[in-house]
Amino acid sequence: MIFQSHLFEGKSVLVTGGGSGIGFAIARQFLQCGATVFIGSRKAERLEEARQSLERYGPVYTRTLDIREPEQAAAMADFIAEKSGVLDILINNAGGQFPSPAEDISPKGWQAVINNNLNGTWYMTQAMAKKFFFPQQQGVVVTITVNNYRGFPGMAHTAAARAGISNFTQTLAVEWASRGVRLNCIAPGIIKSSGLENYPPEMYADVARTIPMKRLGTVDEVASLALFLASPMAAYITGDTIYVDGGARLWGDIWQIE
Ligand SMILES: NC(=O)c1ccc[n+]([C@@H]2O[C@H](COP(=O)([O-])OP(=O)(O)OC[C@H]3O[C@@H](n4cnc5c(N)ncnc54)[C@H](OP(=O)(O)O)[C@@H]3O)[C@@H](O)[C@H]2O)c1
Repeated sequence: MIFQSHLFEGKSVLVTGGGSGIGFAIARQFLQCGATVFIGSRKAERLEEARQSLERYGPVYTRTLDIREPEQAAAMADFIAEKSGVLDILINNAGGQFPSPAEDISPKGWQAVINNNLNGTWYMTQAMAKKFFFPQQQGVVVTITVNNYRGFPGMAHTAAARAGISNFTQTLAVEWASRGVRLNCIAPGIIKSSGLENYPPEMYADVARTIPMKRLGTVDEVASLALFLASPMAAYITGDTIYVDGGARLWGDIWQIE
């Protein structure tokens, strides 16, 4: 842990998708820095396992949550209000996609990825702002997107959804600055995380070769940036997207094209 252990003392943080991978590392780092942490995702069993692993670091609450359902976003806000009274930081980490050549993505598949990533992130952001950040006159949002700097050949749907998130983050950074709300995005490259299990192993077998730093990123490298952006060290940063990708956005091709 590179941050001071009291950095987020007294702060209340929600990490969506905090039961696994990158979200779990973010939840752990916030707990290690003194925060009270809420995690939510769809699978109760995953949340319970995560709670058991995380509770040694500090106070952690779990609740099932599907970010695609605005009523569930509101119910999560009520749960947080009941348990801690405030929410200082929202980490939109929940998301997912599947690889496919663009021409083979069905309307259903396209809608599912847009709904989960773009709409779900929007519902969570708006719900937490209205319930907590506006009344408190302060709040921070950090959203995990993907490295879509040069598009994302092989995952057109998620690249489009995440571009939408980066763009609404810019809009909200302006609209909500006077309300005390700061918002930024983190665009990870390829991170050694549970999320990679959703892809065929051969897709990532030799991928380090395509990254200037010749290695995959770690979940803690993404988590550290999330904590930095949520902290007072980033008090004057808003509306931005920062890449954690070992330089991958600038060079190399993961997907072979004809
Ligand atoms: N690993 C990478 O290389 C990489 C690179 C770029 C971006 N990302 C992004 O970083 C985030 C975390 O990825 P990861 O690698 O840690 O993968 P992961 O382990 O699959 O994490 C995704 C998390 O999101 C939750 N989730 C998905 N849909 C949800 C929904 N509708 N409502 C609530 N929770 C939902 C999942 O939990 P449930 O199944 O319990 O709902 C899971 O805990 C994702 O948005 C991913 O797309 C990852």
